[in-house]
Amino acid sequence: TRHLSRVLQLTLAVIKPDAVAHPLMMEALHQKILDNDFIIVRCKDLVWERQDSERFYAEHSGRFFYQRLVEFMSSGPMRAYVLAREDAIRHWRGLMGPTKVFRARYTDPKSIRAQFGLTDTRNTTHGSDSAESAQREISFFFPDFHTADWMEKEEPLFR
Ligand code: PPS
Repeated sequence: TRHLSRVLQLTLAVIKPDAVAHPLMMEALHQKILDNDFIIVRCKDLVWERQDSERFYAEHSGRFFYQRLVEFMSSGPMRAYVLAREDAIRHWRGLMGPTKVFRARYTDPKSIRAQFGLTDTRNTTHGSDSAESAQREISFFFPDFHTADWMEKEEPLFR
């Protein structure tokens, strides 16, 4: 019988507008996804209305950076991926590094945010932080994608 940890996990990864604006960064990020054995399950480019941004980040609505974050995330094109891998959530977050760019540069200089991030808002990427948020965020970006169906029908094909 297979070990539970071998099962693929899904996560939502987003390339934020600051990185999408830079073709070399986009290329480097796409390559990093491939180099790290993620399966690209879905990928699309999109632009948010301000309301989408407000809804996605509603949990941060009381924070001092909320307006800034909402504005930035609806300021231009993004790329969203559904990624599959063993331990996908933790692995993608590890590659991104800490949210705050100064901290990323200090503790994790090879991470994506350390290398490409400009500020705590313009920090190049987003990744789901738990299985529950992955579920919610994948449906938010890909309403036609059904995680449970994919896990049942498609995931076994990759083993
Ligand atoms: S926290 O402080 O732990 O709640 O922050 P975190 O959940 O890691 O990130 C919150 C999202 O808000 C964006 N953002 C900022 N965070 C912290 N400080 C400042 N000044 C700030 N400005 C914007 C941050 O990039 C996180 O975005 P996502 O898309 O979730 O990575």
